[in-house]
Amino acid sequence: MSPRHAIRFYLNGELVILDDVAPDLTILDYLRVNAMLRGTKEGCAEGDCGACTVLVGRLTGEDGGEEKLQYQAINSCIRFLATLDGCDLVTVDHLSTPDGALHPVQEAMVDKHGSQCGFCTPGFVMALYAMWLNGTHADRESVLLNLQNNLCRCTGYRPIVDAALSISDYGNVDDDPLVRSSAEALARLRDLKDGKRVVIESANGRLFLPADADDLAAILAEHPEATIAAGTTDVGLWVTKMMRSIAPVVFIGHLDDLRGITVTPDAVEFGATVTYEDARPAVESHFPALVALWDRIAGTQIRNMGTICGNIANGSPIGDTPPPLIALGAEIVLRKGNVRRAVRLEDFFIAYGRQDRQPGEFVESVRIPRPDPQRLFATYKVSKRRDEDITAVLGAFNLRIEDGVVREAAIAYGGMAGIPCRARRVEAALLGQPWTLATVERAMTAYEDDFQPLSDWRASADYRMTVARNLLMRFYLASLDKTDERLAAGGVL
Ligand SMILES: Cc1cc2nc3c(=O)[nH]c(=O)nc-3n(C[C@H](O)[C@H](O)[C@H](O)COP(=O)(O)OP(=O)(O)OC[C@H]3O[C@@H](n4cnc5c(N)ncnc54)[C@H](O)[C@@H]3O)c2cc1C
Ligand code: FES
Ligand code: FES
Repeated sequence: MSPRHAIRFYLNGELVILDDVAPDLTILDYLRVNAMLRGTKEGCAEGDCGACTVLVGRLTGEDGGEEKLQYQAINSCIRFLATLDGCDLVTVDHLSTPDGALHPVQEAMVDKHGSQCGFCTPGFVMALYAMWLNGTHADRESVLLNLQNNLCRCTGYRPIVDAALSISDYGNVDDDPLVRSSAEALARLRDLKDGKRVVIESANGRLFLPADADDLAAILAEHPEATIAAGTTDVGLWVTKMMRSIAPVVFIGHLDDLRGITVTPDAVEFGATVTYEDARPAVESHFPALVALWDRIAGTQIRNMGTICGNIANGSPIGDTPPPLIALGAEIVLRKGNVRRAVRLEDFFIAYGRQDRQPGEFVESVRIPRPDPQRLFATYKVSKRRDEDITAVLGAFNLRIEDGVVREAAIAYGGMAGIPCRARRVEAALLGQPWTLATVERAMTAYEDDFQPLSDWRASADYRMTVARNLLMRFYLASLDKTDERLAAGGVL
């Protein structure tokens, strides 16, 4: 099938076809500079503040035989325009009406005094709009979770939370234009699907949107030097903060055949394009001890975009998923052409900035063994801010204790070395020993043999070492009380 050389998407209900798209053109820049829609604001340009929040509607795979149109809030400052191919983009401008009447979300914000300088307001309005459409605005806990990715520097959050909780007093979601026209929108998006690879050559380089996973493998075989971009929550910042060129780039976030979640009696396998939010139901069912950590990874918009496999493939020493997945014994499947190989996750990370991945190879999935209910398993994330902050130190503990003696131990840390890695000497100090305070205190002296952490602006080396040791003590103390909710819930600090 010959490739298509243009992207096609809907912007507030109007079809847009573009054949000259720079690989690094963000949705936000397109909206503000090209489409002259300046309601969407730029605050940080790094995915943190949510001022640039827009909704992206996409067809989700077969669900009981029925295709669905799902709208999610995303940060337009770090997502690239080309990734909208086949999607329905909704901006704050969509909420305006010819007679100037306010949308229920806007009315709630006005009545509850949810805006002062107004700079953050379009982003909050769109985040609230997404909550209203998805029915997650009804209780305070859910509102707080869904507003993690929106920052306001002058109003304060209480009025905005009040606005979220009261939206339904101002209207019925079934009367919302987006809901009323969803059948037509779904049909329109279905018509855009042609199963073709998209290739666009521009002055800033070439971009690819593969037709499927096999096509991705073929493109990477031909262009092994290409940047792979999934949710673009890391790659986006290479452009907006580091001014790096990402061309040629292969966008993969749209690939439904890599979005699978396969549950077997022993393990759960997440495909390369499974985002944190896609994964949430499976995490809740099969890894309840990770739910609290999930809620501490970035904020909703980033969790709607970022993938687990991207968190692994970026090789960061402070990514949140590698330590618990290493402690659980996860492995990844790497694919090059039609050749696949499985690599233990802990072996994938070789040194800072170096992973066991060949040019042209991509991470196809991550397979995570389900935790043995007889084991003690917990993950603790320590960061400067509770919500939406990058880890300073993260410790994951997976112990099998029989008759009061430690029989197996897998302990992994992030933020303590150039890569996420096991605390082998600490594990050795525990193995075969009674699970007692004395053993734990002895094991705490082994940390210096395992790690020589760095000082940076997130934490000093001394702080990291102290916290790492104390997390083992915390794990021990929590383990004494089997009903301790912190342990049961993953004990995230
Ligand atoms: C505001 C903000 C907050 C954040 N908070 C957190 C946090 O709390 N905890 C945390 O761990 N991270 C956090 N991150 C980082 C980021 O969201 C995660 O690392 C995310 O999981 C990356 O996934 P992605 O799909 O967006 O990756 P991308 O940005 O698309 O790619 C990341 C890297 O992985 C490579 N890659 C992606 N997919 C594949 C694949 N299938 N095969 C081979 N290579 C691939 C890319 O080439 C790139 O090198 C945050 C980011 C932002 C912007
Ligand atoms: S501008 Fe701050 S998240 Fe996009
Ligand atoms: S109203 Fe000023 S930053 Fe939120």
